[in-house]
Amino acid sequence: PKQPVKVLVTGAAGQIGYAIVPMIARGLMLGPDQPVVLHMLDIPRMADALNGVRMELVDAALPLLRGVVTTSDEAEAFQGVNFAVLIGGWPRKEGMERKDLIAKNVAIYKSQAAALQQHAAPNCKVLVVANPANTNALVLKEFAPVVPAKNISCLTRLDHNRALGQIAEKLGVHVGDVRNAVVWGNHSSTQFPDASHATARTEHGERPVAELVADEKWLSEEFVSVVQQRGAAVIKARKQSSSLSAASAACDHMRDWVLGTPKGTWVSMGVYSDGSYGVPDGIFYSFPVTCEKGEWSIVQGLQIDDFARSKMELSANELDEERSMAYEFVST
Ligand code: NAI
Repeated sequence: PKQPVKVLVTGAAGQIGYAIVPMIARGLMLGPDQPVVLHMLDIPRMADALNGVRMELVDAALPLLRGVVTTSDEAEAFQGVNFAVLIGGWPRKEGMERKDLIAKNVAIYKSQAAALQQHAAPNCKVLVVANPANTNALVLKEFAPVVPAKNISCLTRLDHNRALGQIAEKLGVHVGDVRNAVVWGNHSSTQFPDASHATARTEHGERPVAELVADEKWLSEEFVSVVQQRGAAVIKARKQSSSLSAASAACDHMRDWVLGTPKGTWVSMGVYSDGSYGVPDGIFYSFPVTCEKGEWSIVQGLQIDDFARSKMELSANELDEERSMAYEFVST
């Protein structure tokens, strides 16, 4: 039997936290044969709520769950963890500028970087969910220089899954039969959801989505904007942001990273750019990746046309701006 691994969830008393901890403790993130010890961090004001979640985990009688640590102390939270899912952060309030949001979260991620570097297990894999996710991941990387950049990632899998969902609905096929959409760029409304490499399994074999949809306008306009705006649409409908789908996507992201992507299938992950596809390095950018033996690698050689190129640049430019803002606050 496998030894338990330690999984940290920050912001564990929040909405996504509440959705994800039972998923992790049921093996949806690391596999049905992998026991886990959950470390849950939230701010002191949330201590009671966090304890309530701990009580519910006990009450759920989860055989894979071998222990729960609840704390508001970063050092204790990061102690010995093998996986860290960073969901905790300062939420965007109405009327709040992006700059203010970045300032608040830079402070949090700077401090958590120190805890990660000092206390986590060697080779700890990190997934940043909290927004601005790409830039929080960058701050984490900058302030945890000993942690290899390849071990830090941010969540764009929700956007990727949304893209698959839209294609499946459009074609009237099962979502499990659609693969290889790509989300490029920032986890924000400048992201570029790209269906031009996607395929779907049909009774006539696996075919390009573009050919099956046969509607250029839908692919380049409606599909793109529906995926970009999906988060806002869920908030409008639910009066709360997407938490079930975000938690589910975070499990998909970690599971594929650790256990590997199926042959011939790629997924989207926000990773530290190595300059692939002409994306500037020095930013966390969402790329198509495959994973094997716990390592991701960017899918190479996809054709990028002028339309895609301009969308990809727009999102890279936004990330460059976010980086400049973040560095302003870091240096003060
Ligand atoms: P929430 O507000 O319900 O939960 C956030 C939790 O973080 C709260 O319990 C809060 O007390 C805690 N927190 C704040 N500062 C903290 C700190 N320094 N250390 C530890 N915990 C801290 O928000 P929700 O809905 O769970 O969303 C969490 C984050 O995920 C937000 O930033 C949201 O924008 C982002 N998000 C990202 C998605 C993605 O695809 N990358 C998708 C959906 C949400």
